[in-house]
Order: sequence, then C-alpha cells, then structure tokens
Amino acid sequence: MIVLTLCNHKGGTGKTTSAVHLAAALGLSGRRTLLVDLDPQGFLTRALGAPEPAPEHSSLALFEPQQTLAEVPMLPMSGFDLLPSHLAMTRVMRKLDKPSDVLWAKDSIQTLSGYDVLLFDTAAAVTVFSLNALVASRFCVIPVTPEHQPVVGAEQTFGTVRMVQQKLNPELTDPLFLLTQVDARRSDHGGFRATLRHHYGPCVMRTMIRTSAALSRTYPGGTTVFDHDPYGKGARDYANAADELLGIIERGGLRTAVRGRAGDEHGKIDAAALAAVAA
Ligand SMILES: Nc1ncnc2c1ncn2[C@@H]1O[C@H](COP(=O)(O)OP(=O)(O)OP(=O)(O)O)[C@@H](O)[C@H]1O
Ligand SMILES: [Mg+2]
Repeated sequence: MIVLTLCNHKGGTGKTTSAVHLAAALGLSGRRTLLVDLDPQGFLTRALGAPEPAPEHSSLALFEPQQTLAEVPMLPMSGFDLLPSHLAMTRVMRKLDKPSDVLWAKDSIQTLSGYDVLLFDTAAAVTVFSLNALVASRFCVIPVTPEHQPVVGAEQTFGTVRMVQQKLNPELTDPLFLLTQVDARRSDHGGFRATLRHHYGPCVMRTMIRTSAALSRTYPGGTTVFDHDPYGKGARDYANAADELLGIIERGGLRTAVRGRAGDEHGKIDAAALAAVAA
C-alpha cells in the first residue's frame, strides 16, 4: 500500500484541496484509495459533506488500542473512501504526549486491507497527528502556494520531514513540493517557483495546480471537480499531478536528492533571497 502525507506548517496552502483531488484522481486510475482526515478542524470531512461520525468511526479509531481499522466502516465518496475527522480529536491530542504516541497510525494501518493508496490530510501545524502521519508514510507532498509565507512554511515543513526521516522513519523518502494556486499572470509567483526549483531541484514537482474557481467550490455527496468539471483545468492539473506522483513512487521516491549549498542541511533558501523575490 502506498502511504502518503500531505503537510505544510503554513495554513491555506491547498493541503485539503490537494488531498481530495489526488484521492479522486488516484481512484479514477483504478487504485482503491482511502483518504484519512487527521485535521481536528475537519474541513476536509465537512467539505465532502460527510455526516458527523461516531467517534469510533472517525480518525480517532487510529489512536484507540481496543479497535482495529478493519472494524471501521469507511465512508464511500466519489472514487475513494473517507475516514472522517472528529471534533474530539483536539481533546485526544492533548493526551497523546508520550514519545511512543507518534507510532499509533503506523501500527493501526497494518490491520487495513483492500486499499492500494492511503492519503493523510494534516493540519497546518506540527502536531502529534501530523507526526503520526509522517511516521506511517513512505511518501510526503508539501503543497505550497508560490508566495512568501507559504514558501517559508514549506521550508520549515521540509526540515520537519528531514527530522522524521532521520529520527523516526528512515523509510520516508524526500518530500515533494506541489505548487498550488499558481497564477501565471503574477510575476512574483514565477519568481518563487524559480527560487524553489533552484534550491530544491527534483523535489519540486513539474506539475503545477493553477488557480481554479471550480476547485474552490464544494460539491454535494463526496463528489469533486472530476464529477462536475472533468475537462476543466482543476481536474486536468490534479490528474497530471497524480500521474507524476505515481511515476515518482514507482521509481521508489526521491532520496537525498537535495543537497543545497555547502553546509546547508536541506537546500534552505536564505531570507534575503526570499525577500528579493517578494519585492
Ligand atoms: N487551485 C486552487 N484554486 C482556487 N482556490 C483554491 C485552490 N486550491 C485551494 N483553494 C482554496 O484555497 C483555500 C485554502 O485551501 P485548502 O483548504 O485546501 O488549504 P489547506 O492547506 O488545507 O488549509 P488549512 O491549513 O486551513 O487546512 C480554500 O478556500 C480552497 O478552496
Ligand atoms: Mg486543510
């Protein structure tokens, strides 16, 4: 099973939109796909119109020793299944404070069968839930809008993923940046894209997700742009992103591809360079 986390410490960078549409695209490619909402705020769950689940039928099941995921009825969406979030996750998060509490998701998904792909959507912060997702994953995508704060957040997230690779999950491959909400008319977007490519090379996916009104809408009953606007740029961009991602995954993912400048731990862009692009 392919296990992949979407994360960026900065909010509003397209994590949830990417999680839903990559899940739908991977589902359309014939892969049985499960999308797990690990954001306690549950925007993904609500955007898909899923009903408020019982706690034991939500992502909380991953953190419940008495339960196996095989017992949880996953919610069928259009092309993929959903394990929804639950508001009690915020309360549960405070109790998960032991070092071993980062291992719950990795252990729980061992009991899962019948899926080819599992995607975790995470909140815009380093939480025990996002660490669980990274510890359970082999692959990681950092959705990043080519603007100053999202790029800074993406670099911090890259550092967190490196830390998880080194200390908690050596199986985790190098994160991939997926540019989202790209507006070709904005020169600063072009500048940030070029800067990211210069510093992170192959870690920046070639496919870019353009701004699209169809992607910012919500649709009823777990449907997506693939049902409502299948030839629009939103559906095409995410279909291309899913294809590119599968190609990288089939080659085993990237490893230590980014060396950055001498002495840099992870190709870090210096603050002055970022400020110059934003100006
Ligand atoms: N390609 C796009 N074109 C237009 N709007 C988009 C696009 N991608 C995302 N959006 C919109 O931008 C907003 C933020 O996107 P999204 O919720 O996916 O980000 P997020 O990283 O999950 O946010 P959070 O950190 O709050 O969880 C949403 O209103 C979404 O509809
Ligand atoms: Mg989100």
